[in-house]
Amino acid sequence: MNQSTIELLTLLHEKRPVKVLFVCLGNICRSPAAEGVLKQIVEEHNDSADWVIDSAGTGNYHVGDLPDHRMRVHARQRGLILDHRCRQVKELDFDRYDIIIGMDNSNLSNLRRLAPTPDAEKKIVAMSEFFGTDSRRHYDYVPDPYYEGSEGFELVLDLLQDACLNLYNDITTNNITR
Ligand code: 4NP
Repeated sequence: MNQSTIELLTLLHEKRPVKVLFVCLGNICRSPAAEGVLKQIVEEHNDSADWVIDSAGTGNYHVGDLPDHRMRVHARQRGLILDHRCRQVKELDFDRYDIIIGMDNSNLSNLRRLAPTPDAEKKIVAMSEFFGTDSRRHYDYVPDPYYEGSEGFELVLDLLQDACLNLYNDITTNNITR
């Protein structure tokens, strides 16, 4: 994990609520799924009052839409109801959120371009920073499942469940072992 990410997570360990924004391209597959996965983890820990969790897309093609039907079906099989309405990321998000997590390098470079100040840019982190050893062995980003079959959606959910649990533990315990 980058030193700058460790410093950000250490700050967040002391702060409540923790405000997390997940970002992908379309905001209908990866980032609303990440939002649902982290919300489920937080609920399981009876911790919802201390977390604000949302998602957004760098693109605007699907604004107002529910998540992709395929992602909703695969998520439901894991007990996740995805009811987010798609929105585009905006400059104000850098004020509203403590950490802004991009799914792939394209999302990250789009976010860096949008960041209004150097301090705002420090809030941008790659989702792969939270991958455990197994995920990291195969991936260093969350691949876009939009043009993939079922395996693509299952893979994304596996990566997100791993990363979100590590994110939750990193912030609540401040004992980062990766
Ligand atoms: P997401 O997937 O970025 O994970 O939501 C995509 C959804 C839609 C499109 C691209 C990626 N699209 O081009 O419409």
